[in-house]
Amino acid sequence: SDTDSDAGPETVLKIIFVGDSGVGKTSLLERMFSDRFDSHMPATIGTDQRFKRLNIDGREIGVSVWDTAGQDRFSSLTPFYFRGAQGVVYVYDVTRAESLTHLRDKWMEDYKSYATVEDAVQMVVGNKVDLGDRMRAVSAEEGAAFAREHGCLYKETSAKTDSGGTDAGVYDALIWGLVC
Ligand code: GTP
Ligand code: MG
Repeated sequence: SDTDSDAGPETVLKIIFVGDSGVGKTSLLERMFSDRFDSHMPATIGTDQRFKRLNIDGREIGVSVWDTAGQDRFSSLTPFYFRGAQGVVYVYDVTRAESLTHLRDKWMEDYKSYATVEDAVQMVVGNKVDLGDRMRAVSAEEGAAFAREHGCLYKETSAKTDSGGTDAGVYDALIWGLVC
């Protein structure tokens, strides 16, 4: 009805993706927004913002997702994007153990210093599971334990092969945590 369309400003959630360069943040977002994968994804310069509308239980929710650059030369810039973020996605590469320890030593420290929303919903995502067990440096159990220890939700995925699932499955718990 007309009254419904005038129901006031829509809810917009701000979600930020952080993690080392090359872990696949942009690739996960490309999968989430366009269901595509590019094996030659260029490194992100600065930050990119993407917007999408979701319909959750009949509620229109706008999701503003900020993709940040993991390269060290941007490390003075990225922390400012934690301001106002209600959701934080920490991405690591399951084949690079240091990309997980850096979540703790760098990205979660930046969160503590720069986040302004108390009780943001935080999620750890282990990416590149398609590379197989022989390439793995972090087991699913280690990833899950790490996430639990830091009060984060946890998922493993592959931006390359987890078509659709990245949107439909991986971020469900995050979105639900933000909406409810
Ligand atoms: P920065 O923008 O520098 O912070 O890096 P990023 O985290 O955005 O990484 P990006 O998405 O650019 O991915 C880096 C490389 O890893 C690209 O060549 C991707 O094609 C590749 N890649 C990303 N996700 C996956 C995955 O799930 N599996 C495989 N095999 N490769 C992936
Ligand atoms: Mg990127």
